[in-house]
Amino acid sequence: MPSLETARTYLRPFQPSDVQIAHEWLGDPEVMRHIPGGSLTLDQTAERVSRYIAHEIRRGFSKWLIYETASNMPIGDSGFFTLPDRARVELGYRLRKSHWGKGLATEVSRAWLSVAHDWYGLTEVYAYALPGNTASLHVMQKLGFAYSHLEDIYEVEVPLYKLQLGGQ
Ligand SMILES: CC(C)(COP(=O)(O)OP(=O)(O)OC[C@H]1O[C@@H](n2cnc3c(N)ncnc32)[C@H](O)[C@@H]1OP(=O)(O)O)[C@@H](O)C(=O)NCCC(=O)NCCS
Repeated sequence: MPSLETARTYLRPFQPSDVQIAHEWLGDPEVMRHIPGGSLTLDQTAERVSRYIAHEIRRGFSKWLIYETASNMPIGDSGFFTLPDRARVELGYRLRKSHWGKGLATEVSRAWLSVAHDWYGLTEVYAYALPGNTASLHVMQKLGFAYSHLEDIYEVEVPLYKLQLGGQ
């Protein structure tokens, strides 16, 4: 199974048996507060994990499970996923609350961006965050994303941000 390592974490693709663990943050209203649709039921988490697995098979990339290396504990998910137009690609990140505020989303995102071109041939990446999501907007800013435009995504109008990778 492929994996991605950072200083404090490692990531791997989702497996069907990950539903219960992922529900610990996908089912948490506080974690999902700024995400269109809000927190998920267990059935919706199962559907989401299936979608991540199917996307990995179909497109060769997807959201992966993040483990904290020191504790070997799953702490969130992050990765690339196609926007609804199935052409453009977004970078997403989400952590359980206990792991917020330690620079982990930035660390994981930087690792993704460093392999985006070589592994997946990406030359540009999008990300979105609702205006109140200060932490996420801050992460994007640190990564160098620039505001692009407003767009209806997942039935909600969201500001899209864009990062040019330049094919390096
Ligand atoms: C968004 C999220 C992934 C950020 O993870 P994180 O590991 O805490 O992020 P980082 O520590 O790498 O960076 C967060 C930055 O925002 C800042 N920040 C966090 N909350 C803030 C707030 N309320 N106001 C101002 N700045 C804030 C932090 O200080 C940090 O900046 P700094 O490094 O300059 O100090 C995490 O909060 C999360 O999982 N949120 C719920 C899911 C979510 O909304 N995901 C994004 C969907 S768009």
